[in-house]
Amino acid sequence: MRIRGFCFFNARSGELSPPGKHLLMRYACDHQGETVKNNELNERRLQATPRGIGVMCNFYAEKAENATVWDVEGNEYIDFAAGIAVLNTGHRHPKIIAAIEKQLHAFTHTAYQIIPYEGYVALAERINARVPVDGPAKTAFFSTGAEAVENAVKIARAYTGRPGLITFGGAFHGRTFMTMALTGKVSPYKLGFGPFPGSVYHAQYPNALHGVSSQEAIKSVERIFKADISPEQVAAIVLEPVQGEGGFNVAPADFMQALRALCDTHGILLIADEVQTGFARTGKLFSMENHCVKPDLITMAKSLAGGMPLSAVSGRAEVMDAPAPGGLGGTYAGNPLAIAAAHAVLDVIDEEDLCTRASHLGHHLVEVLNKAKGQCPYIADIRAQGSMVAVEFNDPQTGQPSPEFTRQVQARALQQGLILLSCGVYGNVIRFLYPLTIPEAQFREALDIISAALTH
Ligand SMILES: Cc1ncc(COP(=O)(O)O)c(C=O)c1O
Repeated sequence: MRIRGFCFFNARSGELSPPGKHLLMRYACDHQGETVKNNELNERRLQATPRGIGVMCNFYAEKAENATVWDVEGNEYIDFAAGIAVLNTGHRHPKIIAAIEKQLHAFTHTAYQIIPYEGYVALAERINARVPVDGPAKTAFFSTGAEAVENAVKIARAYTGRPGLITFGGAFHGRTFMTMALTGKVSPYKLGFGPFPGSVYHAQYPNALHGVSSQEAIKSVERIFKADISPEQVAAIVLEPVQGEGGFNVAPADFMQALRALCDTHGILLIADEVQTGFARTGKLFSMENHCVKPDLITMAKSLAGGMPLSAVSGRAEVMDAPAPGGLGGTYAGNPLAIAAAHAVLDVIDEEDLCTRASHLGHHLVEVLNKAKGQCPYIADIRAQGSMVAVEFNDPQTGQPSPEFTRQVQARALQQGLILLSCGVYGNVIRFLYPLTIPEAQFREALDIISAALTH
């Protein structure tokens, strides 16, 4: 029997709640046993770790398998967060575990820049063969998504000799200084942390629901060329092909074409940040394969290594070769265990045809959401690219974003043992990030929970 847990949410933003400002929502615990383990751990967490590391759930993981997580009290959850899009291949896929174990018995660290190893080179070769850029590609490995984005910026600046960077409102690119500057959402990511690196400008991301057409979004880039920086000084435009934190907004084809044309006219590089969209989530290995244009560089992380910390920048070989030897790298960059895991991830994606499965699962989820729409007037929009699916909620009376209803849906789902994540500039979007390996029956069970949570 699945046993229900409880969770903290920030009542105002619907995001991670800082300690001391919790609105405690304790959901029906239909178990008789002690709850002391989670409570004790929460007490210890509040004492031992800073509030800046916001934590969504107040139950603690004990074990996990594919799409299921158990907490330290034996409560069971269906995991539609998947470690924030890291587990497209599920928790502890046997092939990935075996690959890590094998590497564990060989060596765990040499620092690639000191003593290289074949796994790194072979993974670069595999990614180069599949990355959607024009001509020959090269790949460098790092550890986190933010580090990949930082390095893509370094490579773009080295290649073009230009300083400027253009990103988009609602974008999320990480928590380091350059990636905070690139990020287009102030709270909570940038609050109190400035000043940020300069020469970064934000254009509008197209969003039909919020009244921004592709033409207006392109005009906002052109306005930056008039008001802030000449296009000859811009190194790169950094774009999520589907915005992640920003609300799973899918870049329309005409916008992508116009952006590519602007880049080509002015010698600007197009960087696709695929940290969240990559590795089968959108029905293709890379989301950019769904779009009609090719970027010059692609950043990737998250599901690349099935839970091991690994990120990469891939791109056109001549661009990737711009930085001088020693300019790229890092002590842990391309860790051998993570590289071994990534090889297994690519095998699993192909052997289990996870790109097709992403489209199949996403299609079913969208059907359920569309069906719920008739009974749930809060649903303002349903968006999907493969299994990158989101539903956005507005108050039917005011037409304004409803983070409150979003939290209610999250809470109702959690009560039934389903973990859902929110996102969006207004915190009024639920995003679905289930493992693509989720068993069919468990997926159907989750769809029933979602349906009930929406039409409660
Ligand atoms: C599109 C995108 N870029 C960059 C990052 C930063 O990745 P990391 O948290 O691994 O630094 C994220 C994380 O959510 C992301 O979604």
